[in-house]
This record gives sequence, structure tokens and C-alpha cells, in this order.
Amino acid sequence: MEILIFPDINSLSCKSADLVESQINKYPDSVIGLATGSTPLGLYEELIRRNHEHGLSFSKVTTFNLDEYVGISSDHPQSYRTFMDNKLFKKIDIDLSNTFVPDGMAENPLQVGPDYENLIKERGGIDLQILGVGTDGHIGFNEPTSSLGSITRVKTLTQKTIEDNSRFFQPDEFQPKLAITMGIKTILDSRRILLLAHGENKADAVRDMVEGPLSAFCPASALQLHKRTTVLIDEAAASKLTLKGYYKFVGEMQDDLIRKHRPSDWISR
Ligand code: F6R
Repeated sequence: MEILIFPDINSLSCKSADLVESQINKYPDSVIGLATGSTPLGLYEELIRRNHEHGLSFSKVTTFNLDEYVGISSDHPQSYRTFMDNKLFKKIDIDLSNTFVPDGMAENPLQVGPDYENLIKERGGIDLQILGVGTDGHIGFNEPTSSLGSITRVKTLTQKTIEDNSRFFQPDEFQPKLAITMGIKTILDSRRILLLAHGENKADAVRDMVEGPLSAFCPASALQLHKRTTVLIDEAAASKLTLKGYYKFVGEMQDDLIRKHRPSDWISR
């Protein structure tokens, strides 16, 4: 795991946008895995700006979202499809028919996972996966104790996740307790992963992910097995890392090396 620590969310978002931009510039038909939630909003805003002002084009890009609630339609204000349409897709030049989000209203939700896995394979696999992390260490909706070998499937949300997400629903509104999510194996199969986290409330999850034991109890710790994951965090999210100083030192050393020898080393495929 490569750990990059930033003074604030803006610099973190810009750096992650740099990495996504380099990926698309090198492979315009890249397959990118996307997350919803508050974490990637700065990244998406920056990508929109670069699409409008710098000619960064998504016209050949394919995207697969990590997850979707079961039981709300794609046009529901809280569906992840609506989130992606409003926060990114409708503001860039992407072909909407190349943007995939699991279908939370499928007649048989149990069939959505296998179909989604096949679609990802048909499109050549995920080149670059963007992730956030839950306060309980989940990635996608892979809640604590999710199998580290899991693929896309229906998951029951924990009480913690339901509480964290209740702010988006009216008190008397139906709030889903099931979701369809890429599995941990699906995520680990991505060629390159960027995990973003900011804020003090993520500090425990970040510590467990980076420095804790590899354990299904902290699903994000599975990323320790992935050979090309970069964790981009702000100072607050990094505040509980024991080796924080070391990660900064590694960053400086690697920067020098990569600048000199392999300027586009991080790009996948
Ligand atoms: C969203 C997702 C979740 C979020 C995580 C963090 O598609 O898969 O794992 O990334 O819950 O959410 P925020 O960014 O809102 O703190």
C-alpha cells in the first residue's frame, strides 16, 4: 500500500484527479470503478472542471459503480444512479450507456451480482477503482465479516451504516437495509485502486485498514493484499497512524525516484 497524506481535502481531491486524468490520457477507453458518498465529491468536481476547461474527455470511458440500494428505483433521489448522474455523469461528455450501476429494482436481486460480474469481464475488467471507506471499515457495502473472497451480491447493511446514511432520508421515508455491492474479490481484481478518506471520523478505519491485521472484521484491510493500491488521506484521517512520519518519508523518497525514472509508473493495464 502506498500512503499519501495531504493537508486538506482540496489537495487530496486534486491529486486523485491527476491520477484519474493520467489514466484516461494514456488509455482513453479505460474502465473505471466509481464510489458514491461524500468522499469523492471533490474528485468529481475537479474531473468536471478538467472536462470543461482542459479537454479531459470521458467519451470512450466505461464506468462501474460499486453498489446500489435494493428497493429504490434508479430515479429515486437517494439512489446511487441518481447521485452519479447528478454529481458526475450529466456534467461530463461520458456516454451514459457506458455507465453501469447495479439494478436495485431487479425482479431477482440475486441474479444482479453474477450478471454484473460478467459485464465487468466483458468490458475487460476494471483498470482503476475509486474507493471511500466507511467508519466501520467497509468498502463498497462489504460490511465487517464480509468474505474476503466475495463477488458482487446482495448484502445486509449494518446498523452503523444505516445510521450513517440516515441523514440522506426523511425520518418517515423508507430507508433500504439491503444493497447490491461489488465483492471484496471484485475490488481486489481491479488493476489499480485509489482509496480516498478525509476527516477525523475516518481515523480509526484508516488505521485498521493500513496497520491492523488482515481481517474480514475490517474489510478495507483486504487492500493490504492488493499490489497497486494508493491510499490518499488528509491529516485528520491519518491522525491515528503509528507510522505516519514514515509514510511521509516514503512519499518524498518515491517522488524523487519516480520523477527521475518512471513518471507514469502508476498507470494501470
Ligand atoms: C459508496 C460506498 C461506500 C462509501 C463509504 C464512505 O458507493 O461504496 O463504501 O465509500 O460508506 O462514505 P462517505 O464517503 O459518505 O463517508
